[in-house]
Amino acid sequence: MRTVELAHAEDFDGWRGTARALALAGVPADEVSWRVAGEQADLFGAAPAEATPLPAASTAAFSVPRPFVELASQAIHHRDPERFSLLYRLLLRLRGQPKALEDAADPLVRRLDEMAKAVRRDEHKMHAFIRFREVATDNGSIRFVAWFEPEHHIVRLGAGFFQRRFATMQWSILTPELCAHWDGAELSFTVGATKAEAPDGDPVEETWKTYYASIFNPARVKVGAMLREMPKKYWRNLPETALVPELVAGARSRELAMIEQSQVSAGTAAGDNLRASWEALRDEASRCTRCHLYECATQTVFGEGPLDAPLCFVGEQPGDQEDLAGRPFVGPAGQLFNRALGEARIDRSQAYVTNSVKHFKFEQRGKRRIHAKPDAPEIDACRWWLDGERGLLKPAVTVALGATAGRALTGKTVTISKTRGAPLFLADGGECWITVHPSFLLRIPEPDRAEAEYVRFVEDLRTIKARVAELAG
Ligand code: URA
Repeated sequence: MRTVELAHAEDFDGWRGTARALALAGVPADEVSWRVAGEQADLFGAAPAEATPLPAASTAAFSVPRPFVELASQAIHHRDPERFSLLYRLLLRLRGQPKALEDAADPLVRRLDEMAKAVRRDEHKMHAFIRFREVATDNGSIRFVAWFEPEHHIVRLGAGFFQRRFATMQWSILTPELCAHWDGAELSFTVGATKAEAPDGDPVEETWKTYYASIFNPARVKVGAMLREMPKKYWRNLPETALVPELVAGARSRELAMIEQSQVSAGTAAGDNLRASWEALRDEASRCTRCHLYECATQTVFGEGPLDAPLCFVGEQPGDQEDLAGRPFVGPAGQLFNRALGEARIDRSQAYVTNSVKHFKFEQRGKRRIHAKPDAPEIDACRWWLDGERGLLKPAVTVALGATAGRALTGKTVTISKTRGAPLFLADGGECWITVHPSFLLRIPEPDRAEAEYVRFVEDLRTIKARVAELAG
């Protein structure tokens, strides 16, 4: 058994260099034990084995698919002590089966995907739930200090966000395992702290409380959703949560007051009107006979997502699985789409996802239903519903996934290579970005090209995400 010691809990570079050398030397996963410097090796406090020298470096070529590097660089931050060896196991597998990552149902791939997802969620929580308190330092300058309890090893990962966002301030984020400090020029890390070392209560809290009370919407009190988004363990560190019980208690009466007020002017609250209109449109679409496609499809597959989403994705048409499930992008193309969204850090649940054509068009071959491309009259007939959806949502940015969506949105034939990478403006003034369809990526036979195109797709999504943030101000 070889023992490898990594410098710290998320030492990705150390893991990568060692894993590469071990893989080139043909060392099986079961013969490697991974540990982190300074951590106890086992639960019973047995002295850890001496770290084994690495096999001699080899000059042999070594490459792994880029999605694996992305997956590994995220999963390595997970708290699970097995993460290093699971990643090494997958790395070895990829050398013989370069497409192994595409099998999202494989238990190893799934487990590592889940780990990467949990890390991204934790990082998001760090960004969203940290609240700084103002502290006067000995030299008279102001420092902002926050306390946070992450679930995974994400302090280094998450600190860059604060460095960019609060570049001109001096701040520290204290956590039980590791503390991050920014002095206006340099980011540094020190060992963990205790909550008692973090300051409590100051005028910054008052600002937050005033802000929170002003944006609190009593009609949206959904404790389950609040808990999911902001687990209770974070509540005690957020100054504004001191207000939550009071605001929730007053919510019903404030909600009634809002309804009463809106009944005087508009009949019902605007959000309720929007939902009712969208539901009416969806119900009408479920009986659509605007073209012949309804005759063979199982059902209309309408769009889904929040009605106030700033971002709307438009695909081509439902596939075999979407037709059966009644939901867009749940089959193989949907899985690839989800993966790319994850890598671009776009939360699908915050976007509206729909299709240009709402019925599955296919050719029956034996028992199989083979996807058939919708033609121009079918796209144009179905545009009624897409225009209706976009007209209600008014998303800041609409993304055409593929040429069919490009045509549905612009009314013209589009060439993706010419229109990609910059916004177009639609007839209603909305902004539209065109990129490839995930199914196109699934159909590319050469792994290198498929990989390069996938990376480009993720880059497009990242650009679009940045644009949505920019438009939101
Ligand atoms: N392809 C699409 O364009 N839409 C779906 O919903 C699924 C696959």
